[in-house]
Amino acid sequence: MTDAILLHRERGLLTLTLNRPDKKNALTRAMYAQLAHALRDADQDPEINAVLICGSADCFTAGNDIADFLQAPPNSLDSPVFHFMLALLDCRKPVIAAVAGAAVGIGTTLLLHCDLVYVSRDARLRMPFVNLGLCPEFGSSLILPRLLGHAKAAELLLLGEGFSGEQAAAWGLASEAMGSGEAALAKAREVGLRFETLSADAVAISKQLMKAPDREQLRRVIEEEGALFVRRLKSPEAVAALSGFINRG
Ligand code: COA
Repeated sequence: MTDAILLHRERGLLTLTLNRPDKKNALTRAMYAQLAHALRDADQDPEINAVLICGSADCFTAGNDIADFLQAPPNSLDSPVFHFMLALLDCRKPVIAAVAGAAVGIGTTLLLHCDLVYVSRDARLRMPFVNLGLCPEFGSSLILPRLLGHAKAAELLLLGEGFSGEQAAAWGLASEAMGSGEAALAKAREVGLRFETLSADAVAISKQLMKAPDREQLRRVIEEEGALFVRRLKSPEAVAALSGFINRG
């Protein structure tokens, strides 16, 4: 493990901190691999009741590391980003997220697969896939229209419009919006520690029941989105947009 992902264990709560503040916690292949590994381990560890994912006090994550993306684009379902997202999808224990500042791209998408999400009111969430010549990923094209209705989801996915933590909570994408990033993290930690007072089996069964009805369809959509995303990454528009970010003055 490098220190780009910090692991901290407090009683039954494992906290995974995205810790690359100089690059706004942008996620590299190595970080995805570490996150996948930590989630799979936590799922097997009887001493762990819940997992908390957080970033820095002023930024959750800027999403995929664009330089890493250009250098080694994911080209199949057998890539670190897919391993991470599948580990998140498969995790039988509650996964909690604490979000402050920017949560871009997969930084927002991953929240759709967490169980409890605490955001700062002024957090800035955005899935700018179309703006980068890309398409939605990891089930967002299925989950968001269901949750928000097609017209609101289209603002987020067809225009790439951003939204605040306050809006995320009002729309049901987050559990609660808090006054600050520190408050969001404190709430996420408090909730995470609460799981040690509950039957692990009852919690796991409850989560499984909540997820089961959509599981098969979600997997199919994720595979379909993944294949299209990988194809779009090679498009001239995506290469130009991603290179443009790296080479901006
Ligand atoms: N990949 C790689 N590097 C990134 C990054 C990303 N996704 N996002 C930010 N960084 C780097 C910047 O290049 C910069 O590095 P430098 O100091 O070496 O030049 C550093 O992080 C700080 O970023 P900056 O843009 O100056 O910070 P900001 O506070 O003005 O803006 C963001 C923060 C997150 C809003 C902005 O960086 C951003 O939009 N990033 C791209 C997000 C994105 O499109 N993600 C989806 C990828 S699929």
